[in-house]
Amino acid sequence: MKQYLKHDEWCIIEEGLKPEYNEISESIFSIGNGRMGQRANFEETYTGHTFQGSYLAGVYYPDKTRVGWWKNGYPEYFAKVLNAPNWIGIDIKVDGETLDLAKCEVKSFRRVLNMKEGYLERTFTAKMVNGTEVEVNSKRFCSLVKDESAAIRYSIKLLNYTGKLTVMPYLDGDIINKDTNYDEKFWDPIHEEVEGQSGFITVETKKTAFQVCTGMQYVIEQDGQALDLSPYNTQKAKYIDSTVEFEAKEGQETVIYKYAANVTSFNHDKSEIQDLCKKTVADAVAKGFDAMLAEQAAAWGSKWEEADIVIEGDVAAQQGIRFNIFQLYQTYTGEDERLNIGPKGFTGEKYGGSTYWDTEAYCFPFYLATADQKVARQLLIYRHKHLQKAIENAAKLGFTDGAALYPMVTMNGEECHNEWEITFEEIHRNGAIAYAIYDYIRYTGEQEYLIDYGLEVLIGISRFWAQRVHFSERAGMYMMHGVTGPNEYENNVNNNWYTNLIAKWCLSYTLEAIDYVKNNAADKYKALEEQIKFYEYTETNKWKDIIEKMYLPTDDELGIIVQHDGFLDKELLVVDDLKEGDYPLNQNWSWDRILRSVFIKQADVLQGIYFFEDEFDEETIRKNFDFYEPRTVHESSLSPCVHVILASVLGKKEKAYEMYIRTARLDLDDYNNDTEDGCHITSMAGTWMAFVKGFGGMRVYNDTLQFAPYLPEQWASYAFNVRFRGHYIKVNVDKTQTTISNHADEALSLKVHGKDYEIAAESSITI
Ligand code: BGC
Repeated sequence: MKQYLKHDEWCIIEEGLKPEYNEISESIFSIGNGRMGQRANFEETYTGHTFQGSYLAGVYYPDKTRVGWWKNGYPEYFAKVLNAPNWIGIDIKVDGETLDLAKCEVKSFRRVLNMKEGYLERTFTAKMVNGTEVEVNSKRFCSLVKDESAAIRYSIKLLNYTGKLTVMPYLDGDIINKDTNYDEKFWDPIHEEVEGQSGFITVETKKTAFQVCTGMQYVIEQDGQALDLSPYNTQKAKYIDSTVEFEAKEGQETVIYKYAANVTSFNHDKSEIQDLCKKTVADAVAKGFDAMLAEQAAAWGSKWEEADIVIEGDVAAQQGIRFNIFQLYQTYTGEDERLNIGPKGFTGEKYGGSTYWDTEAYCFPFYLATADQKVARQLLIYRHKHLQKAIENAAKLGFTDGAALYPMVTMNGEECHNEWEITFEEIHRNGAIAYAIYDYIRYTGEQEYLIDYGLEVLIGISRFWAQRVHFSERAGMYMMHGVTGPNEYENNVNNNWYTNLIAKWCLSYTLEAIDYVKNNAADKYKALEEQIKFYEYTETNKWKDIIEKMYLPTDDELGIIVQHDGFLDKELLVVDDLKEGDYPLNQNWSWDRILRSVFIKQADVLQGIYFFEDEFDEETIRKNFDFYEPRTVHESSLSPCVHVILASVLGKKEKAYEMYIRTARLDLDDYNNDTEDGCHITSMAGTWMAFVKGFGGMRVYNDTLQFAPYLPEQWASYAFNVRFRGHYIKVNVDKTQTTISNHADEALSLKVHGKDYEIAAESSITI
């Protein structure tokens, strides 16, 4: 854990250059707009530790799989999020010496991520080897309004010198992924051009043939006047630069505006991207940096109005939740149904593929409650579009007749993960995809979704479960062997309770969905039956049998659910038995030792209890929480949030708070010692869930919104907003009361702490 960032309500602040933490900061201070993202690398040369990263949504490369021992069924490739052309570069020379903070005496340094207005700012003063002292301030952002545009304002003052300043803005497409299996470069050159103060490069991905045109134009001002420059330009494959030299007087401010665009063939026809890129850059120049930044601030203002959470009395917690919300909206805006939410968003490359079960299990509720309904719907449609591929994926493993197994990791619907114990065995992911459909309908009431899209996906998933279980003659029950539950610290187990439960639930829910569609859209049901060759009678009879006889391991003596067969025969240590140097286990213990130990990576039994909480009484929840939580090391960022929610149900306020701070500040304080690889974007939605479902107690049952808010002792008050079926609801909780306001032209019926209330249109209640 590292605590070097300053606490502030709206900004992330780093004071003083810490080269040893630079890659962590580069992740944390990343900027993005759902279409592109950029790590917080320096514009000028930096020869210290750095992980340069620019990413473009939807543009990927199918890197040839690398495994020790090939297993039939493995995918041929692992889709990599691509490190794309560097558009931020501006090299600076003073009197011939390159400005490089790794070589200067850095006198002051401050990096600020302004989350309110959506930009990154960096200010420093440094003494160069030649004795020149420089003061630099740079601001940059990826525009939320024009999502193919970005802009930089880079100002430099020579503090003790009058002389020659050389400025070289450049674009570099000769980029190599940090994450590559065979150290290959993934980009081929297509076109370069540079003229005057603008330049463009077009590069193409190998194999997938995505083209990207990255463009720039720069303007340099002194004393508010644009300089008339005659640049010296160079170009080579995948690269252009433009060099200008002029005099800067001691104390005089020189401002470089660099306007950039990234236009990709993921969004446009290849024949158009170069022209579009030129136009996008020209439009940005015409608008100007200040006007673009003002638009940016306004766009973020609207986002915050919808999605902000305010905490009074705890700046660290406030900063944490805003950082999570900010990064989520930098990653996914819901405007494009082909996109999804990668575990690292645009902040790094680890987990190279884009979509995991994280989306449905953790991110979905956030977008469902803080954005227009269509945003969450897009996430469902994404999986609907991939159904055919999920069927092919299952077929590759030997399943038949339309059984669908969604991939563990995917970019385009195809599986690209290749560790057998996860790819083939961590099949519970299928359940989360069905659960998100259920969650969407429960929350929005849009049952029609089942008719047009949902049912088809549910049947594919149920068909898979019906083939994946086997009947144990000995026990007279259905079982599932050789699976990996959410706890990846144990693989290839038999009868993981969570997996068996979610399979059984999927089958039941699909039966309900069939009834609904049959009764409400008989024609469409018939058409679907024919299209997917669904033999309702035979198939659903088998499902009913499985539902009735599914084995769900429990232990009567301890009164708990058993994570999987044999779990209780382990040495039942608890986390308190571990020593200081053991953490995190995945960095200090051999994999063998981890697998044999009792320690749990992330919520597993508790994940099931969280999903189906209404089916468990409080005593059962308590016994399981008290048994499993002390054995959980939370080494998946997805773990603490579920524990906040259940600890809240159980009135374990201290535990809930401890887990909340851990999830909210996971990256800011680098809890898991891995933020340098990128931020944990999907778990950030878990933070929101922890807040609203944990502290706010939000649930939806029987079409009714419920809250059961409480205030952590450490705080003076908090407030959050949710959208619910056309209502915009604000919940304020302080030490004495809860106020809920209903911004809608209709009354809202709801439950608070189990009691019924009605809030008239545009009014509020105080409890
Ligand atoms: C977790 C998985 C998760 C993946 C990507 C792993 O560490 O165990 O549950 O899907 O990270 O976030």
